[in-house]
This record gives sequence, C-alpha cells and structure tokens, in this order.
Amino acid sequence: MANVMAICGSLRKGSLNRMLMNASIAAAPAGMTIKEGPSYADFPIYNFDIQNSSGFPAQVDAYADAVRKADGLLIVSPEYNWTIPAGLKNMIDWLSRYKEVPFKDKPVAIQSVAGGLLGGSRMQYHLRQCLMSVDCFLFGKPEVIVNMGVSKFDAATGALKDQAAADLVKQQMEAFGKFIARVKD
Ligand code: FNR
Repeated sequence: MANVMAICGSLRKGSLNRMLMNASIAAAPAGMTIKEGPSYADFPIYNFDIQNSSGFPAQVDAYADAVRKADGLLIVSPEYNWTIPAGLKNMIDWLSRYKEVPFKDKPVAIQSVAGGLLGGSRMQYHLRQCLMSVDCFLFGKPEVIVNMGVSKFDAATGALKDQAAADLVKQQMEAFGKFIARVKD
C-alpha cells in the first residue's frame, strides 16, 4: 500500500487548489491512500540564524518526519506571479537544510489550478527545478494543469465538475501509483 502525503500550495480557505487536491484524494486508485500532510502555514521565514541559535522549530521537525514517512508526495499549488508561492517554497527551503534531506528519492506528482489560461504551468516548471535540487524523483505525464479554474469547480460543494480534468486526475493518480512502485526498489 502506497501512502501519499498531499500538500496544498494555497493557504486560503476557499482554495481551488485544495478542491483539486480533494478530488485527487477521492480518486486514489486501489493500493494507494492519499492524506493531507501537516500545516506549514506558521513556519517562520527561513533564516539560518534561527536554525543556528535554536535548531529546527518543532513544527518543521514534525513536517520533515511526515515527509520521510510518506511513500510519495502530491503537491497541488497555484502560481503566484509566475512562480512557486512563497509559503510552499519556504517549507521546501527549511526541509532542504536537514543533513538527511527528507525529499531525497521521494516520488512527487504535481498539479495546479489557476485563474488564467496557463493554469499554473509556470509554477510547475519552477517547482520541478526546485525539487530536482533536493533529489526528488519527479513524476512526468500525464500532467494535471487546470486553467480558467473558477469555472471548473462547484462553488457550493467544491466538487471538480469538469469531466476532462477529473479524468486526467484519475489517470495521473493511477500512473503515479505505478511510478511509486517502480522507484521504491
Ligand atoms: C495570483 N494568480 C495568478 N494566476 C496565474 O495564472 N498566474 C499568476 O502568476 C498568478 N499570480 C498570482 C499572485 C498572487 C499573489 C495571487 C493571490 C494570485 C491568481 C490565482 O491563479 C488564483 O487566485 C487562484 O485561485 C489561486 O489559487 P487558490 O488559492 O484558489 O488555490
């Protein structure tokens, strides 16, 4: 059984990316469970002086443990100003400072929703680069890029109502399950 930890790159309550993440959690194929990881919303902005004077904050340690225990990560994030939202990047920066980096050899799938035409694809490319630097194993295709996001979810229930996107989510999660099994050795 592969246990996948889901990470949402948006911190707001009505997040479309969280709706997409929930659709993926519900679409987990046989042999996979997907659960949202702990919150990283209150991590201090990375500063070596904090690490140097008082060590890693307890919540960062707990987060690193959760990543270590996961067989794979699913990151679902918006694009902020063509790149990775600062909170998500800050979490990656903190975890990258452990001697044994929790991301090493970790299979990762990426999804995004954005309001515009490009659907967060620029964030996806930047996140791929960033996660390569911490030795993740990046899942390739199918890509899940949901553009014109507001129109694709039911505002009242949060359900993903776009059939093409729902099909892609299902296909990606099935292929990600096989990818995790392949790289797990
Ligand atoms: C955005 N948005 C946005 N959209 C996009 O397609 N490209 C971008 O570069 C940006 N930049 C950006 C910066 C900031 C600070 C915000 C708050 C928003 C719009 C974004 O796609 C939209 O608000 C999404 O709904 C945000 O995702 P959540 O919070 O709904 O998951």
